Amino acid sequence: MIEARDRRVRRRLMSYIVALLAVIAVSATLPFTGLLLTGDGQAIAQQGAATVGDSFGSDTNPRANFWRAVREGDTGYSAIQGREAGVLIQNGGENYRMLRNGPVLTYGAGIMLLVLIVIFAYHLLNGQVKIDGGRSGRLVQRWTTLERLLHWVTAISFVLLLITGLSMAFGRDVLIPAIGRDAFSAYASLARSVHNYVGPVFAVSLVLLLLKFLPSNFPNRTDWEWFKRGGGLIGKAHPSAGRMNAGEKFWFWLLMTFGMAVVVTGLLLDFSAYFELTRSGAQISVLIHAACAMIVMAVAFGHVYLGTAGTEGALEGMTTGSVDEAWARQHHDLWLEEVKRKGGGAAPASSAGSATGAGAPQTAST
Ligand code: HEM
Repeated sequence: MIEARDRRVRRRLMSYIVALLAVIAVSATLPFTGLLLTGDGQAIAQQGAATVGDSFGSDTNPRANFWRAVREGDTGYSAIQGREAGVLIQNGGENYRMLRNGPVLTYGAGIMLLVLIVIFAYHLLNGQVKIDGGRSGRLVQRWTTLERLLHWVTAISFVLLLITGLSMAFGRDVLIPAIGRDAFSAYASLARSVHNYVGPVFAVSLVLLLLKFLPSNFPNRTDWEWFKRGGGLIGKAHPSAGRMNAGEKFWFWLLMTFGMAVVVTGLLLDFSAYFELTRSGAQISVLIHAACAMIVMAVAFGHVYLGTAGTEGALEGMTTGSVDEAWARQHHDLWLEEVKRKGGGAAPASSAGSATGAGAPQTAST
């Protein structure tokens, strides 16, 4: 009896011990199932670390190596196809952001504001430059229809680019406080599209404008004298000038250089996929584009002022094609003499639009 009971107790004890050992064994193996589940991910991570972290050796923490490599811009693996898709973080982006939001936009805004203040102060002190002795009532043709068309297509597209460009550059600081985030977001995407589509129109018209006006803009000896005498804006003297005075030539060559830099970088950004622009290429293009554009804008303010409120009788040349003979004698005396020498006299103002003379003695009327 006693023996039978002892055997039952021993059997139960053995089953308890086996169960306990089984629980311990299963518990001990459970954490290792995590390794089975994440095996693939780790293999990829280790593969990536080995690819991008090679240059750092393998004696330190592989995760630290991996992160260091990412920050150095080493190429890893990505399923996404495309240029630089394997570069997770491009370190230069931070330098670009600091340059754009720092010196480029700050100095750019400063130069534009300074020019506006100088123009405003000059106008308050001197007022408009009037036609000496009043109008003669006789008209001389100054610009051909093609020249005016090119000028206004360039000017209108420039103004659209200026407004949308400045909105993108300064909108976050200036427009969000005024119109709120939602309205700015909607406007900013519209502004971006307008900027991207008008850019190529400006590019083509600027190239044609420059080619058309090139023959009249080569510097000569009278230009230096014109600058020395302040172009007639300072004091009462009206220095001699040909078809373009030195100030206009300065504007022309600024457009040829800085304006062209804006056009080239703008087209690179517009068609970045076609030109296979890298991220750093795009960043450099944006910096050059913004800096040169703001320089051109600042000088354009001066040009627009002198062509409108600053000088009596200048704008009608670009709108109707003809200017008053007295205006021509005051601002472009050498050109007027040349027009007359070549047989292009002045017509009475009543026959506006049919004024005789050549827009440019060097160029035929179109
Ligand atoms: C939007 C307002 C503008 C106005 C009111 C304006 C007005 C004028 C006027 C009146 C002239 C003739 C000056 C003269 O007879 O000697 C002129 C010439 C000229 N304008 Fe404009 N303009 C404007 C914008 C622009 C823009 C945006 C550009 C180029 C991006 C430009 C480029 C030129 C050029 C190249 C000339 C020929 C003189 C030269 O070779 O420098 N204009 N403009």
